[in-house]
Amino acid sequence: MPEIKKLYIETFGCQMNFSDSEIVGSLMLSHGYEMTNGPDRADVIFINTCSVREHAEQRVRRRLKELSILKKKRPSLIIGLLGCMAERLKETLLEEESLIDLLIGPDAYRHIPDLLSTVESGQRAVDVLLSEEETYADIRPVRLGSNGVSAFISIMRGCENFCSYCVVPYTRGKERSRDPGSIIREATGLVEQGYREVTLLGQNVNSYTWNEQGKLVDFSGLLGRMAGIDPLLRVRFATSHPKDLSDELITVIASYPNICRSVHLPVQSGSDHMLNRMNRKYTREWYMDRIRAIRQHIPDCTISTDIIAGFCGETEEDHLETLSIMTEAAFDFAYMFRYSERSGTIAAKKYNDDVPGDVKSRRLDEIIRLQQTLSLQSNEKDIGKIAEVLVEGRSRKSQHHLSGRNSQNKVVVFPARDFKPGEYINVRITGCTSATLTGEASADRT
Ligand code: SAH
Ligand code: SF4
Ligand code: F3S
Repeated sequence: MPEIKKLYIETFGCQMNFSDSEIVGSLMLSHGYEMTNGPDRADVIFINTCSVREHAEQRVRRRLKELSILKKKRPSLIIGLLGCMAERLKETLLEEESLIDLLIGPDAYRHIPDLLSTVESGQRAVDVLLSEEETYADIRPVRLGSNGVSAFISIMRGCENFCSYCVVPYTRGKERSRDPGSIIREATGLVEQGYREVTLLGQNVNSYTWNEQGKLVDFSGLLGRMAGIDPLLRVRFATSHPKDLSDELITVIASYPNICRSVHLPVQSGSDHMLNRMNRKYTREWYMDRIRAIRQHIPDCTISTDIIAGFCGETEEDHLETLSIMTEAAFDFAYMFRYSERSGTIAAKKYNDDVPGDVKSRRLDEIIRLQQTLSLQSNEKDIGKIAEVLVEGRSRKSQHHLSGRNSQNKVVVFPARDFKPGEYINVRITGCTSATLTGEASADRT
């Protein structure tokens, strides 16, 4: 019998990339491969890459250097580079990185088996064509590195918002939504396997739309249907673009207890001038109105955000406006970045990347420090409350503790008892840091 070939996939970048790796894994399993969880025993290594910031690409380049040692030892090893870097840099990557055997853009994963045959016949292979229709709707992803409790479901692909700093519309192509029937089937299958939480993914889930026999299904409609699958299934989603966050969506979240009380609403900047230059299509006032609407209708909802420090032309006043909107919105959590120019984007063509590196870093530091204070304040408010925690597994830091999250997406750590991953446990919160809540499980399961 021929030996079964082993595939190892390593993923960089956003949740959508992790979800894509699970699709690729599934395609490869149905072509006779099996997965392995490290590079050493692999016959094929795929690196699924991100281009969103220069730093993300540098990490991939460093990883390729490490893998070149492995490839020298075992020349038969096949190395494929997948995802956004493949799409952005195309053939120049083959010239620069001699160890890459195949280069595959995010819409070409179905062609991987054919491309591998080309590689096995001694040639390098490339497919970076983008598609207007591909959603991989019929593919049941394998769950890689899963805790058996929570899973990602891609509900759409691509992005057409063209925020001026962002490379994603170029690496991911046209926005397209996935058939709701296939999304519901995937979630139902997960529930049958014991999963208790799904996160619906898209670059802007609020613009989800599908024509179902003449009737339009929008994101609110899809979310309501997802919540109806099983009251024990938690439903999360990311990301919401503030320009499209509707009152109707807020009403749907508020009306289903199993839709999680946490909204990720990237603000990027607190300055109208910057928001305009970023092509975000909303103002500070609009953004704050959306925050107030969420806080009014879903009072226990946490709000997280993304912030960019040092975008083109950002003055000290603009930066202070970012700091002030952070306090005004009282963000519970944030991902914070230094602006990184990406060639080909509108900002790279139209504006000067003129904020000096040390100023960008100082502003980012101030943003991070403020957010630590805000996160700590948010967590301190939970002390004394009971949190319903979905247990995910052992805490990373201590074998004697379990870790899970509450509906608000906060990590809760508590002493282990005989609870299992996938159980809902009431935990009394007794302490916190800016990143974690700690507590004691109450006697009763929920
Ligand atoms: N679709 C999501 C975000 C996708 S990228 C949204 O619209 O919010 C994730 C985050 O990376 C962005 O929200 C932004 O804060 C950051 N980002 C994107 N391009 C960047 C760049 N060129 N430099 C620095 N940060 C960037
Ligand atoms: Fe990038 Fe804007 Fe699209 Fe988000 S919405 S992926 S930031 S272009
Ligand atoms: Fe990165 Fe591509 Fe996601 S650029 S953030 S992996 S869509």
